[in-house]
Amino acid sequence: MVQLSTSVYLLGGLLGLFLLSPVTMAPTPASMCTALKTLNGSLSNRRRYMKHNFPINYKIRVHYEEVFKLSNINRMRLHVEGLDELVLQRLWFQVNRGVLKKIIRVMPERHPSRQYTTELERRFRDAEGVFVQSHPAEVFQQELPESIQDTWDHLTEEPSRVPESSWRSASPKSLLDNLCHTMHCLFSECFASTETKRDCEYFKETPPVAQDVTKKEK
Ligand SMILES: *[C@@H]1O[C@H](CO)[C@@H](O)[C@H](O)[C@H]1NC(C)=O
Repeated sequence: MVQLSTSVYLLGGLLGLFLLSPVTMAPTPASMCTALKTLNGSLSNRRRYMKHNFPINYKIRVHYEEVFKLSNINRMRLHVEGLDELVLQRLWFQVNRGVLKKIIRVMPERHPSRQYTTELERRFRDAEGVFVQSHPAEVFQQELPESIQDTWDHLTEEPSRVPESSWRSASPKSLLDNLCHTMHCLFSECFASTETKRDCEYFKETPPVAQDVTKKEK
């Protein structure tokens, strides 16, 4: 019995090595999902930390592309030819890395939500690390569809060069709501509850026609 479990462990270890080995580089949905579910766990406290510890109607300045909702994703799915799901996932990481950075930047060292948010960012980066590791490096060098590349370039533009009309105000809570909802749909294999599925399906079937990024939070 003891021996059996030892060999099971050994086998598990070898399998682990095999999965981590750079030669195979196969996507590892399981570890990706673990990281994202951990992030999802932290996000469940977002109301407490992103709403209650901020003044009413508190908003921060973000690129309009950083108001990144399901409707935006679905519009891209409809209008960008040959759009790979992986590209959307990369964009999701790019957008939300910036969003988290901006939220942290407005909080003084002793802000009651500071610790929560830095922890959230750490978990986000963990997930990003797993994401990057679980795909071959070439994937990240592939040329992006033009409109996606444009979005990408705007996001990484030097802030002083961003025209005034390209900024939006958004509450920290609404930004994290977007992060959470889009995560559930872009990584739906990790969040397969019927409820999530229905939300994502709904948007797939009836894509919103016009974008209203200035719409206020509910
Ligand atoms: C994600 O978090 C929500 C709470 O915000 C929870 O209801 C849901 O079960 C979580 N999903 C997974 C797959 O962990």
